[in-house]
Amino acid sequence: MKKLSTFTTRAAALAVSVLAAAPVFGADAPATLKDTFQNDFLMGVAINNRQIMEEDTNGVALIVSQYNAISPENVMKWEAIHPRAGTNGYDFGPADAYVAFGEKHHMMVVGHTLAWHSQTPAWVFRADDGRQLQGTNEADRQILLDRLHEHIQTVVGRYKGRVKVWDVVNEALSDGGENETNVLRRQSPWVRILGQEFIEKAFQWAHEADPDCILRYNDYSIENGPKRKRLITLIKSLQAKHIPVMAIGSQTHANLNWPTPQLEDEALTDIASLGLPIHITELDVDSSQRGQRNQSADVAANAQSGGGGQVSAADQKLAEQYGNLFRAFVNHRKDIKLVTFWGVNDRDSWRRNGNPLLFDGNWQPKPAFDAVIKAAKPVIATTASSKDSAH
Ligand code: G3I
Repeated sequence: MKKLSTFTTRAAALAVSVLAAAPVFGADAPATLKDTFQNDFLMGVAINNRQIMEEDTNGVALIVSQYNAISPENVMKWEAIHPRAGTNGYDFGPADAYVAFGEKHHMMVVGHTLAWHSQTPAWVFRADDGRQLQGTNEADRQILLDRLHEHIQTVVGRYKGRVKVWDVVNEALSDGGENETNVLRRQSPWVRILGQEFIEKAFQWAHEADPDCILRYNDYSIENGPKRKRLITLIKSLQAKHIPVMAIGSQTHANLNWPTPQLEDEALTDIASLGLPIHITELDVDSSQRGQRNQSADVAANAQSGGGGQVSAADQKLAEQYGNLFRAFVNHRKDIKLVTFWGVNDRDSWRRNGNPLLFDGNWQPKPAFDAVIKAAKPVIATTASSKDSAH
């Protein structure tokens, strides 16, 4: 069987296919993410408005050739889809176009996100007279619950049967180490006003609006022991109340040193003990100097990596970390059903200074792309003789 061509050759072939917006077929066709991992999990990517509107034609070619699932980077967030109170409060245009894009290209469409403390307009947490809603006031609590109910009914209902997975609640857990005793994030107005009830109601109402949709709890840094413990406490408490939480989203905004392969493996094993599918929902790996300090105390290791030339060392380390992460994902493929990158290329990324994705700003695959493809388990062809010998 023909050996896979070198990274450079495949990169060139892929670049041609992307820039010409036409796939390359035949023995020299470059490996794609969705084909390489087709027996493991779906491969997703978060897309932005220019891609949804098909203005970024190179981006669209890459999305369509590499991925079979999409997430909306911003267009379904409350501030985008429901910016105003009242009967004329919704702007569905971009979200409608996003769902239509996914259907046109036969991709699984994910919704992101229904209840989050960020990118939610201030009016949601204010009374009509402008004062902040208070958790100590029963009438205020009811105002916020009614708003959440109406929002979920409207948005989930509109895309019923078309959006297959919703991030129902996003980032509700507290950060911090063992000394942090609150399970939920106290700075969130949802938590401050409603406590855990907003999570329970959000899942129940989303389930009522679309009983077939996979409903996900989504958070970041849940690899870390203390936050992971909080996740497990929260989800077990929801499960005890028969709240329809159906999948765990692990965002996985990583850097070059974090999570380590051991930590990733341990976290996936622990999270899988909840008995729910795991989705890697917002994968990227920050390779900027500053990005290392965000998640890891190992500044010395980062300084050394700059010694051999910042860019090539960063590319190499990025490839190593992506290889590590994907080996862990493949080892846990029984539980992982979807792996989604948070952005198409480095230039689109919210962490663009950290060149965190598999494709550079010109849509070209980086060594990290090759490392991900190599992390796949080889598919062993079952020949007639090996079949015979198995009997
Ligand atoms: O809304 C304005 C728009 O009117 C203006 O044209 C544009 C000009 O730059 O700015 C727009 O807002 C930006 C918005 O993205 C849409 O592009 C915000 O300033 C910017 O802060 C916002 O960033 C998004 C961020 O969430 C906000 O929290 C990122 O694109 C998005 O990648 C990021 O995604 C989050 C996930 O939803 C949840 N998990 C963490 C992840 C990374 O922060």
